[in-house]
Amino acid sequence: MTQGETVPAAALNWPTMPKPRAGWRLPPNLEDYESTCRTFTWAAARDELPGLPGGGLNIAHEAVDRHAKGDRANRVAIRWRGRRGERRDITYGQLRDETSRFANVLTSLGVGRGDAVFTLAGRIPELYIAALGTLKNGSVFCPMFSAFGPEPVLQRMSIGHAKVLVTTPVLYQRKVAAIRDQMPELRLVILTGEPPAGCDPATTFNLATLMAEASTDFAIVPTNGEDLALLHFTSGTTGKPKGAMHVHEAVVAHHATGRFALDFHDSDIFWCTADPGWITGTSYGIISPLTHGLTMVVDEADFDAVRWYRVLEEERVTIWYTAPTAVRMLMKAGAEMAKGFDLSALRFVGSVGEPLNPEGVVWGQEAFGLPIHDNWWQTETGGIMIANFPSMEIRPGSMGRPLPGIRAAIVRREGDSVVELMAGEEGELALLKGWPSMFRGYLGEEERYRKCFVGDWYLTGDLARVDEDGYYWFVGRADDVIKSAGHLIGPFEVESAVMEHPAVAEVGVIGKPDPVAGEIVKAFVSLKSGFEPSEALRLEILGFARQRLGTAVAPKEIAFADSLPRTRSGKIMRRLLKARELGLPEGDLSTLEGPA
Ligand code: PRX
Repeated sequence: MTQGETVPAAALNWPTMPKPRAGWRLPPNLEDYESTCRTFTWAAARDELPGLPGGGLNIAHEAVDRHAKGDRANRVAIRWRGRRGERRDITYGQLRDETSRFANVLTSLGVGRGDAVFTLAGRIPELYIAALGTLKNGSVFCPMFSAFGPEPVLQRMSIGHAKVLVTTPVLYQRKVAAIRDQMPELRLVILTGEPPAGCDPATTFNLATLMAEASTDFAIVPTNGEDLALLHFTSGTTGKPKGAMHVHEAVVAHHATGRFALDFHDSDIFWCTADPGWITGTSYGIISPLTHGLTMVVDEADFDAVRWYRVLEEERVTIWYTAPTAVRMLMKAGAEMAKGFDLSALRFVGSVGEPLNPEGVVWGQEAFGLPIHDNWWQTETGGIMIANFPSMEIRPGSMGRPLPGIRAAIVRREGDSVVELMAGEEGELALLKGWPSMFRGYLGEEERYRKCFVGDWYLTGDLARVDEDGYYWFVGRADDVIKSAGHLIGPFEVESAVMEHPAVAEVGVIGKPDPVAGEIVKAFVSLKSGFEPSEALRLEILGFARQRLGTAVAPKEIAFADSLPRTRSGKIMRRLLKARELGLPEGDLSTLEGPA
């Protein structure tokens, strides 16, 4: 299944998966969906969190300090597994101390409330400490994916007015050193090792040295619910990346959705495989499990089927939140491999980020004795909005039903209003605004934000259907963004980088369906006169793009074309490039410029 393809008709032929066995291990938190939806209020959910002593709300207090004071002080908060087999356990007490140290480091360097602290790092302990310490300091945490190249890093740090960057010496040299002077607002770089020779010691520091000098006492800055906490970049069809702004109040949704959609119980050991460079890895790879006081597993290494099963087995993971691409890679390795490991601790598996094939849901049952629960959300929603809950029947291929407190609908835009569509009709998925983790804006782009709303509805840009029983079925994106291995990629960002190659005259980028990654980035390139298509030039442009964009964003394929189809207003018709690539009908060509 790939984006753009219709799921429901095929998926309805799949058997509905049974509810978990009654009395099986732990009763689900969301026992009775209908009655919980009727009685749930966000105000009551807010009251379940203590808030800061003296008033206010701060994500890091809910995630760390309140547990560190009580019975959970000695419980492992983060169980870190290094790439080369290293281990580090960080208890809630230690996490409180380390994050307070980091907050003191920021304060001592003059970094304060509202200042943007960016990170560019893999899943290392320092990343988690920096994230939570930044929030304690009232600063804004902005994570970037470590597989970004210098171009996406520069774009995001410039748009986000980065004051501080926390990164590793290796990533600094590879991706930041050469662009640093293009970011005049960037005052400080903090490295997780010795700064390379030649760095100015007044602006480039070794984190360990700073931490050793910092106190473990820090009074959390008394932020309010509406204070900015997180900036997560996402992409659209056109224009630069968008910085979705989230506030401390979002923690109310992180907490409630962890309880309902991921079924967090006090004794759980949780593993979210997403990287904090993408929002899943922050909302559910840092905040939600910690607000519940759980032990969360962090694996620094990238996907490897045997390694992942070993993590599940050795850590006795009870709840596992992963992504369809990973499920498809595990399916390739075969259910037999899974059966070779003791996964008996596992009681709930969730998946997010892209369509989960019905085959994947059913395969989970075969491999782990558990179906895989798909759920849906976006960078803009901050937390899970639609889910297959543990207590309900799964309809394989469906994203599930809206969370308590979330009102969803399928709508059609009509001028300044929306029309709600009937069950079975395809339209845009919309959410009634007002949940705590809803984004509060795109940084510096008021107009782009406003366009996401019609009246009280937030329009998601996803096409979907709802069935008679309120289950939502993903149909595709309404725009041209690409979802590759669960990562959202803006075609414009890729096109802009490829355009800079001296041989390139024009470029159009599409998501090409891929059986494992969902989609891969494919670029169509026409060359300037004087250049001839050749394998050597193709590889050179691929390498050029990878160098600038990094492996996470760069095209995997490039094809040469004599010219690219454009509208009369001059826009490259990606839709047509995609239709031709797939051998699909070319649709309405009335806006096409000349013969193409
Ligand atoms: O198109 C939808 C797809 O991913 C988009 C959101 O991507 P991003 O902002 O990167 O957020 C990632 C956090 C989940 C959505 O607009 N998407 C997400 N979940 C699903 C999905 N598509 C189909 N099924 C899903 N379960």
